[in-house]
Amino acid sequence: MLTLGVLASGSGSNFQSIVNNIESGYLNARVAVLISDKPDAYAIERAKKHNIEHLVLNPKDFPDKDAYYSHIAKELKRRGVELVILAGFMRVVGKALIDEYRNRIMNIHPALLPSFPGLHGQKQAADYSVKISGCTVHFVDEGMDTGPIIIQAAVPAYHDDTEETLGKRILKQEHKIFPYAIKLYSEGKITLESRKVVISGDREDFAVANPPIDELKT
Ligand code: GRF
Repeated sequence: MLTLGVLASGSGSNFQSIVNNIESGYLNARVAVLISDKPDAYAIERAKKHNIEHLVLNPKDFPDKDAYYSHIAKELKRRGVELVILAGFMRVVGKALIDEYRNRIMNIHPALLPSFPGLHGQKQAADYSVKISGCTVHFVDEGMDTGPIIIQAAVPAYHDDTEETLGKRILKQEHKIFPYAIKLYSEGKITLESRKVVISGDREDFAVANPPIDELKT
C-alpha cells in the first residue's frame, strides 16, 4: 500500500477526491498526513472528518524557505510518506523538499501545461479565449509548473467562459485524473526517462494515458 502525504492550502476538493478513491478501494493507498500552510484551509476540516492526521505549518514560523521545506520533508519522512501530493498547495516548493522527494512529488495544475503556468491558469485560459483547456498532473521540479507531465485531460472552452465556469469544468476532470495518476504510480506503471514520463501500456491503449472526457458528451 502506497503511503501518501498531502499538502494543501485551500478547499481541498482534490484531497477529498483522493480520499474518496481510497475509501472506495480504487486506490491502494493511505494518506499518512495532511499538511497545510493555512490554518483556515477547509482541507483541514476534511482531514478531521476522515480521521487523517493534519499539521498546520506556517512559513512565517520558520527562519527561511529552506528551513520550512526541510521541516516538511522531515515530517513526511517520519511518517513513511512515499509520494507527496500537492493538492492546491499554493506555493513554489523549496529545493529542500524536492531534493528529498525527487520525482516523488505530484502536482495538479488547472491548465494544459506548458500553457498558462503559475497562478490562475483557468483565468489565463479564459482571458486568452482558448478553445480547449484542461488540467495536468506533473512531477514537481524546481521551476514553476515545469516538471515532467504525467497525465492531462482536456475540456472545451467557450467564448463566454469565465474563470469560474471554465474552472468548474476543469476541476471535475482534476478530481478524476489525480487519483488516476496516483493509481498508475502505485501500480508501478510510471517510469521516467530523463524528463519523459513513460506510462506502460499507453502505446497499445491510448486511453491509458488519455482518460476519456465525459464533458464532451454532454
Ligand atoms: C485546483 O484548481 C488545482 O488545480 C490548483 O488549485 C486548485 C485547488 O483546488 N492547483 P482544491 O483545493 O483541490 O479544491
